[in-house]
Amino acid sequence: MKRSVVLLTVLLLCVAAFSGCIKSGDNKVLKVGTEATFPPFETTDENENIVGFDVDLITAIAEDNGWEIEMVHLPFDSLIESLQTDKLDIVIAAMTIDEERSEKVLFSTPYFDASQVMVIREDEEREFGLDDIVEQNLLVAVQMGTTGSYEGEAIFGSEDHPNLRQYKRVNEAFMDLKNGRVDLVIIDEPVAKNYIAHLGGMKILGEPFTNEQYGIAVKKTNTDMMEKINASLAKIKDSGKYDEIFEKWFGE
Ligand code: ARG
Repeated sequence: MKRSVVLLTVLLLCVAAFSGCIKSGDNKVLKVGTEATFPPFETTDENENIVGFDVDLITAIAEDNGWEIEMVHLPFDSLIESLQTDKLDIVIAAMTIDEERSEKVLFSTPYFDASQVMVIREDEEREFGLDDIVEQNLLVAVQMGTTGSYEGEAIFGSEDHPNLRQYKRVNEAFMDLKNGRVDLVIIDEPVAKNYIAHLGGMKILGEPFTNEQYGIAVKKTNTDMMEKINASLAKIKDSGKYDEIFEKWFGE
């Protein structure tokens, strides 16, 4: 009799502990990493909340799956490693899908087309193009770890070239362009347009010169979650929700 009571108690405790595990796993708040100096994809509002196109998109995907999410701001060049080390569950950061990154993380189907452009001061009098940057000894600003910085490295032949200025935050790169501390910024076109519209005194030089597509990223082994993200992404595009979010951040 006594023995069966003990057994039953142990059994009940096991069940309780086990269901507790499942429950807390289900209710886990997913950490979504981004770098929030990249409007209109991600920026901070007057209350320091992270807002933008990417935030609305990942919120819609999370809602579709019943996930709770929390946005986390980190330096752009630390996002991929943070996925690999489980500090983040998802990254949405206007991140270009490329080969090197695809070796480290899993990307969703593309959700946005973009390209790099050069931004200069409106009153720039010198004439130059991409091919003249080295010869004219120009100072180029890029954001660390971005495809813009890869373009800069290609131009100067090294990431350590003194004329290649690597910024952690995009707003600081544009302030330095305005103040004459650098001669141009290489950055994604939609973001260039946004900063030009808000800060003024700058313009895009020439034509976009790369073809890129953004993807949402998760840890390499997280194929289940990626299937769900891709399914929701397709749904959101079909339902008109994607267009609604696009209109909100890119409409007039
Ligand atoms: N598309 C570029 C890249 O993948 C720049 C992205 C920067 N994103 C950001 N949230 N700061 O490298």
